[in-house]
Amino acid sequence: MTAVAALDTGLDWSADRIIGDAGRLLGDHRPADALRLLTDAPASTHDLPLLHHLTGRAQAGLNNPLAALTAFRKAAERGGASADLFNDMGNSLAWLGKLGPAADAYRLAIRLQPNAAPLYLNLGNALSAAGDLAGAARAFAECATQCPSDPVARHMLAALTGGPPPDRAADGYVAANFDNFAASFDATLVGKLGYEGPALIRAAMDRQLGRPEGQLYVLDAGCGTGLCAPLLRPFAAQLDGVDLSAEMLVHAQARQAYDRLDRVELGAHLAAHPAHWDAIVAADVFSYFGNLAEPFRAAKLALRPGGALFATVESDEQAAAGFVLRPSGRYAHTEAFVAACARDAGLYLVHYEIRTLRHERGLPVPAMVFILAAEAPGHAEEHHQ
Ligand SMILES: C[S@@+](CC[C@H](N)C(=O)[O-])C[C@H]1O[C@@H](n2cnc3c(N)ncnc32)[C@H](O)[C@@H]1O
Repeated sequence: MTAVAALDTGLDWSADRIIGDAGRLLGDHRPADALRLLTDAPASTHDLPLLHHLTGRAQAGLNNPLAALTAFRKAAERGGASADLFNDMGNSLAWLGKLGPAADAYRLAIRLQPNAAPLYLNLGNALSAAGDLAGAARAFAECATQCPSDPVARHMLAALTGGPPPDRAADGYVAANFDNFAASFDATLVGKLGYEGPALIRAAMDRQLGRPEGQLYVLDAGCGTGLCAPLLRPFAAQLDGVDLSAEMLVHAQARQAYDRLDRVELGAHLAAHPAHWDAIVAADVFSYFGNLAEPFRAAKLALRPGGALFATVESDEQAAAGFVLRPSGRYAHTEAFVAACARDAGLYLVHYEIRTLRHERGLPVPAMVFILAAEAPGHAEEHHQ
């Protein structure tokens, strides 16, 4: 190539390179590096809608939904309207709690790409969070029509239409739901919903285990982004975490608090590790299980002698079958059902209390915090002596 040809094409090449590299960095979960690259881009690229679209994605990756939204708007103003862009706008708006505008953004995305089933999921989630359960059910039904095997649509239709609930949320539902939620999980749960799960679990562990001495094998089952890790670490010689969502695990890994993280289904993992952990923690995880018989049996198997399971469930004493799948897509349980499943599994309900787990649309969500010991209380004491 001659020097003149290189000069002629230099500008395009630079824009393509920046956009390509930024896309790769975002794919590698390096939003800060992507943002630096995009911010340093030469002025000649500043009118490219894709540059602003990627800037918005980098900001979202850095937990800045407002800055993300601003960048997405700039992309739209520069002619970058696409289903992807409106979907990203919808996600930022939903993250900011602007559920009506989020639903509008998803509708715009659907208008541009009416056959994209995931857009109906996002619309359904926004409508359901806004309390428009009938609208949400229609959106999930449309998704299920387009993609009958979609696990999220199937789960949410069961939740919203009151059909017979599955024994637990399908792996595909859990993974897709939390992959989607991972970036905004901490800000939403802790910042907006007043999530108390980790603190409630820690209080239960203090009660059962006494002063932490860093000597236990601990499993954070359904560890999510690792919010519990700093509170579990003082008890642990070895702290393991498992989760079905790869994106949640990326955040857990970034905390550098776990000795080991695995992307697996927790029931299967427990069943495959007999007598392995002293403490198993499931903070706001059995909200994705209806029937607790199987995970409790697996936990009993996986606990070492003297060990215990520390967990929460949303509580609903009216649930006739012992558990109910709520319109939120989460299950709630009765105390009697938790106790019966524990008994059948050979676990001992040594403590439970009803506490507020978090808030939902301003209202407290009551939950049962409980401790299931592997051995009868007297026996466990003997064991510890
Ligand atoms: C509401 S989050 C709670 C996360 C964490 N325990 C906390 O307190 O922040 C529920 C987590 O459980 C995970 N989960 C649900 N069902 C699971 C299963 N069967 N196996 C593994 N992980 C599961 C989800 O992927 C999600 O990360």
